[in-house]
Amino acid sequence: MRRPLVIANWKMHGSRSSVATLMAGLLERIDEARADIALCPGFVHLAQVVDACDGSAIAVGAQDCSHMHEGAYTGEVAPDMLVDIGCEWVLLGHSERRQYHDESDRLIAAKLAAAVEAGLQPVLCIGETQEQREDGEAFTVVARQLQGALAEQSSLAGLVIAYEPVWAIGTGLTASPEQAQEMHGYIRERLAEAGWVDAAEVRLLYGGSVKAANAASLFAQPDIDGALVGGASLDSAEFANIVAAA
Ligand code: G3H
Repeated sequence: MRRPLVIANWKMHGSRSSVATLMAGLLERIDEARADIALCPGFVHLAQVVDACDGSAIAVGAQDCSHMHEGAYTGEVAPDMLVDIGCEWVLLGHSERRQYHDESDRLIAAKLAAAVEAGLQPVLCIGETQEQREDGEAFTVVARQLQGALAEQSSLAGLVIAYEPVWAIGTGLTASPEQAQEMHGYIRERLAEAGWVDAAEVRLLYGGSVKAANAASLFAQPDIDGALVGGASLDSAEFANIVAAA
């Protein structure tokens, strides 16, 4: 049985003060027994959130990391630095990184290898754009992203995959539970065929306008093991209700 996992991606939001308020609300409301939970704040708030989560079962993750372990890479954050300050998770290949920072499958594969070597649990984000879906390419795109990131890895310990159709991110449009399940089923099939990992053990998260109102119907699907939540994770009551649906 795969334990549900719900991850909050706060993206580029927050200040020390709003993070303190959000953390107080989350610690009061979240039922940690329902699911594994990870919070991914911006880099500068990681240490604050690690401290706030101390003594709880809530883990902390970063939204990205470098593909290198150390060296003259101005502005980069090594996965080893994240481990050192208490992070356990890292999001990789988020569509906003692919879109605004031109991240290629090759770079994402290198980041994934570095993250696993450093001891982080990687969350590989994949998903098609609206145009690609309309052109009937959704499955090909997802297959290519999986191949590009996973095919040459020597270890994929702790791998989690988040399917986030780009057209559903921050738009209020959610993939229907059936649409999401269809893709999740496909992803698990591809993983099983390729044999890179034990497909039955990999947790597959859905992301894209998840909120308390639609979480239960998504989580009811057999291959949806949790969610990667953006906007709705900035409201502690809403996020706690999503966790409660897991
Ligand atoms: O990482 C989270 C996803 O991009 C989903 O964002 O819940 O605001 O649509 P959203």
